[in-house]
Amino acid sequence: MALLPILCYPDPKLHTVAKPITAFDDRLKILVADMLETMYDAKGIGLAATQVDVHERLIVIDVSEERDQPMVLINPELVWTSPATHLNEEGCLSVPGIYDGVERFDAVHCKAQDLSGQARVIEADALLAVCIQHEMDHLLGKVFVEYLSPLKRNRIKSKMIKARREDAR
Ligand code: NI
Repeated sequence: MALLPILCYPDPKLHTVAKPITAFDDRLKILVADMLETMYDAKGIGLAATQVDVHERLIVIDVSEERDQPMVLINPELVWTSPATHLNEEGCLSVPGIYDGVERFDAVHCKAQDLSGQARVIEADALLAVCIQHEMDHLLGKVFVEYLSPLKRNRIKSKMIKARREDAR
């Protein structure tokens, strides 16, 4: 297994739209194992393939306290969303140190395939529902800061660019 580098906002590669996965092979198993290792190492609750510069429809999630319930969602699609939404504070491994409110559906039903290609529907609410919506946005090339006002977004963009410049020193 290997840790994968995580793309940082405003890297334009984060805006790539992911393609469906068609081969449920060893390459995919290794990618999933590496993404889980990368997510746990970064102390994240979710990671989309887009964030590790692989533009395929795959996300990994673990919202458990014990960090022992990994979920693998391949080719996820929302088949139902609740009428109610709420504002939820979100962060992202690609925008380290930034947290802000995003409006999300309270609950979603998400159809996704597992590593063997088997499809099932996940009924999610609370943190899991928010996490699924956040990670699925990544697959469409959307980072959560794009929901914020242009003023806030530009401020975050400058902050990220400055932080990277300081890192490079
Ligand atoms: Ni994210």
